Amino acid sequence: MSVEEGKLPMYGMPTGAPAPAHPPLRRRLLRFVLAAVLSATVVQYLGLVAHLSGNGRGETVNVPLRAQEYLDKCQLLSVKPGPPADFHTRTHSDRFVPGTQPTLILNATIWTGRDNGHEVVRGDVLLHGGIIRRVGHLQQSALEEYADLTRIDAKGRWLSSGIVDLHSHLGVGASPELDGADDTNSLKAPVQPWLRALDGLNTHDDSYATSIAGGVTTSLILPGSANAIGGQGVIIKLRPPTDRSPTGMLLENPYETNRTVYDPAVSFRYRQMKHACGENPHGVYGPGFTRMDTTWAFREAYEKARLIKHSQDEFCSKAVHGEWAGLGEFPEDLQWEALVDVLRGRVKVQNHCYETVDLDDMVRLTNEFKFSIAAFHHAHETYLVPDTLKAAYGHPPAIALFATNARYKREAYRGSEFAPKILADNGLQVVMKSDHNVLDSRFLLYEAQQAHYYGLPANLALAAVTSTPARVMGQDHRIGYVSEGYDADVVLWDSNPLALGATPEQVWIDGIPQIAKPYAHTKPAAFQTLPKTPDFEEEAKEALKYEGLPPLEPKRSSADVVVFTNVSSVHLREGQDIREAYVADAADALSAGVVVVRNGRVACVSAATGTCASSVRAEDNAEFVDLEGGAISPGLVTVGSPLGLEEMTSEESTIDGYVLDPLTHVVPEIAGGNGMLIRAADGLQFGTRDALVAYRSGVTTGIVAPQSTGFLAGLSTAFSTVAHHKLESGAIVQEIGALHVSIHPVGIPSVSTQIAALRHLLLGETTGELKHWVHKVKQGDVPLVVEVESADAIASIVSLKMEVEAHVHHAIQVTILGATEAHLLARELGQANVGVIIQRTRPFPNVWEKRRILPGPPLSETNAIAILLAHNVTVGVGVEEAWMARNTRLDIAWAALESGGEIRKADALALASVNVEKLLGVKTDGLQADLVATRGGDLLGFSKVVGVMSPRRGVVDLF
Ligand SMILES: *[C@@H]1O[C@H](CO)[C@@H](O)[C@H](O)[C@H]1NC(C)=O
Ligand SMILES: *[C@@H]1O[C@H](CO)[C@@H](O)[C@H](O)[C@H]1NC(C)=O
Ligand SMILES: *[C@@H]1O[C@H](CO)[C@@H](O)[C@H](O)[C@H]1NC(C)=O
Ligand SMILES: *[C@@H]1O[C@H](CO)[C@@H](O)[C@H](O)[C@H]1NC(C)=O
Repeated sequence: MSVEEGKLPMYGMPTGAPAPAHPPLRRRLLRFVLAAVLSATVVQYLGLVAHLSGNGRGETVNVPLRAQEYLDKCQLLSVKPGPPADFHTRTHSDRFVPGTQPTLILNATIWTGRDNGHEVVRGDVLLHGGIIRRVGHLQQSALEEYADLTRIDAKGRWLSSGIVDLHSHLGVGASPELDGADDTNSLKAPVQPWLRALDGLNTHDDSYATSIAGGVTTSLILPGSANAIGGQGVIIKLRPPTDRSPTGMLLENPYETNRTVYDPAVSFRYRQMKHACGENPHGVYGPGFTRMDTTWAFREAYEKARLIKHSQDEFCSKAVHGEWAGLGEFPEDLQWEALVDVLRGRVKVQNHCYETVDLDDMVRLTNEFKFSIAAFHHAHETYLVPDTLKAAYGHPPAIALFATNARYKREAYRGSEFAPKILADNGLQVVMKSDHNVLDSRFLLYEAQQAHYYGLPANLALAAVTSTPARVMGQDHRIGYVSEGYDADVVLWDSNPLALGATPEQVWIDGIPQIAKPYAHTKPAAFQTLPKTPDFEEEAKEALKYEGLPPLEPKRSSADVVVFTNVSSVHLREGQDIREAYVADAADALSAGVVVVRNGRVACVSAATGTCASSVRAEDNAEFVDLEGGAISPGLVTVGSPLGLEEMTSEESTIDGYVLDPLTHVVPEIAGGNGMLIRAADGLQFGTRDALVAYRSGVTTGIVAPQSTGFLAGLSTAFSTVAHHKLESGAIVQEIGALHVSIHPVGIPSVSTQIAALRHLLLGETTGELKHWVHKVKQGDVPLVVEVESADAIASIVSLKMEVEAHVHHAIQVTILGATEAHLLARELGQANVGVIIQRTRPFPNVWEKRRILPGPPLSETNAIAILLAHNVTVGVGVEEAWMARNTRLDIAWAALESGGEIRKADALALASVNVEKLLGVKTDGLQADLVATRGGDLLGFSKVVGVMSPRRGVVDLF
């Protein structure tokens, strides 16, 4: 959640300063006077005659008129949150929508969530009254009472509870983002426990529907992290409420509305409170506001809450004994009541907190003030300090993580993909969360899949997005399980939920099917079982040994000949194409292949029984690598993110930085004035952790353009993701690839001004370096890459291309990058021979210019990539942020799955290799290009990358 810096009131300034620690003097004096009067035996209280009683010592004591109200309040103080006693006998949910038909889902493989996530039941599930009525095999006779029963044949497919997101900003930071609808962070003061996310919950957010399409049924909506105490979260169900109001979305409504009378004496409901430590609150309150200040803000607030709690307890211990003398009013304060409730154990504290220093601060705070933390969120260093977590007051917090999103700032730098596994090994509760829209919560299950891939056991991985978050938010009595009496929130999946690309065939919330016309493709049979995952024990140990910064450089094979055995498929580059060079017969064990590599170059590919094995001579210094049914595939190419120009995005001293934009700035003459053109190659940084992690995931080449926040970026470059420095042989794949510009709606200058500037570059007079490279673009020798999202702006670029071509009398090469809405112009792009790089393979409408997404199954039959390919558009894929490059192989695999077979394996590999190079003007000799070896499967799945062959560098790297 971005927060603007520099416009903020300082802590302690009058605007929004915390309430004064003591009531104003005049009120205090008045109280003092009253107390003096009351201590006499005069029987008058605030001018009202009250009921008299003796206190046994012959004195008469006044009882305040509001005595009963106070006694009720006192009694409520000790009520523990939880469902009413008869909750589990309910036959209807309080969220039941009259008219909802009962539904019977037959023959499902039901992951119930019980038995610590181990229980799987084959059978039927009956949804009725908004709850799960029966689970198991149901006799026909048991169903006769249900009229209008809707029957769904699951055909053995997987059914789970709805996905539960412990950390989302859906609705408070609504999509598309508009200035009028960002209610995530209040910047008025560091401590504001009185704020409520519900008060900013926008019911018009495009991502309710998309998140449901990923199986998400319940989310905890939290305020942002700009404050130490940012306010209260709310738990909502994502389906459109029948009354169309935010209140109607609440899972358990702890507020009085006209329809519902909330009686806390009957069932006291858990509330949720956002806390944040570390960089965000420290950064927002300006220079000089340090971690020490944040922690003091916490201590000051908790001391205030403690004093109120103490005076309430004192008051009540006297009041219940009738000792009213001198008691005055029940001590309470609307601004602080929620924090007092934290101390009473009735609020779940959800604590954004990353680094060891911050975790330790918070754990000390819990012991000083005696409250517990429900979960640490983000929590990138928690796996390094399990003992600190276990020292927290009450119980160790659960840990809510991203799977692979890390290194974006200092406190995320030591984040590890092995954290979920390591934390679980330490007996700590692991939750995967979206922080929607930081990650699109539609794909929260993907976080669990990745956590499983990197070592979190399957039972805990699925629990991490269902039953565990339900428990951590205090709602495991009604959500997170497929169990009788639970809310009827279930998802029928097209495959095993932990298989890559698992997609809902239908999602029910409160028993109501949510997807009007779900599209589904039949997945290969292998997707119905739990994916096989590699062994990462050693890597997890290294992460601990090196405090989160394990060395990532590969080991270079010292052998002249490396022989890969038991290879199930080989894909090679052939010019600008990908060709399947070998595929083993799955039914014939003897057909496994052998690939012989000499000096980094493939010398021979054959079946084990073929000629290759015998081509290895006795005198060869040979190393044998068993791929266990794995594959050889082309090395992938990444584009779109700043990979290669940065280490930690938000640390300026670790990034190349941003170019001066000549459209909005005067470029100094010394830099070339209006003719300035920046080369990314001049700013390359080698050996960044994101680059090495990408390399270890099969991404061997990066293409990066200078980073710009405006119009003219500069010249992109292609580089090796493993080289140590620029001067090393093979480090630069190609110094200059393409000329990059961006067109985005930013107010000033207008989109039309930006397009005018592009027209001027191409058809008007330019100078210097710019003139030189624009000339090459006009010659058709160098591609022009335009980063643009909206179909309208893309259409203007297509027109401009035609205009220029009419002028120069030959074709020029134009590539659209970003391209969220390009599918709307697939035919026109194909006809105009404009290529497209889809930067986000699973699109999300986070801003207006990207709102017209083609969402993919289950909301649409296919995705934008398949539509564009079908129109003969050359399509490549990219990523937005540097950490994402590692997941490129899963992105292309998923895109192929969404196309239902239209995109074949070789096409998928081309999307992130040859096509990207073609579209970015990188001319790699196919024979020089890297190849990647994977063990236990091919590159397009949860296999392990174990080696890279580089003919260019003449080496084989092994991991
Ligand atoms: C359940 O579905 C599986 C897979 O389609 C099928 O083999 C099996 O016969 C079905 N069982 C019943 C009871 O319908
Ligand atoms: C509140 O509820 C009552 C009873 O259902 C109804 O008569 C009344 O009109 C409602 N008031 C408002 C403001 O909705
Ligand atoms: C190849 O690897 C697979 C998967 O590990 C294994 O089942 C098979 O036996 C191996 N085949 C040979 C010939 O080693
Ligand atoms: C795409 O190209 C193929 C082969 O050249 C051609 O048959 C087909 O008609 C083209 N499709 C479109 C939509 O232009």
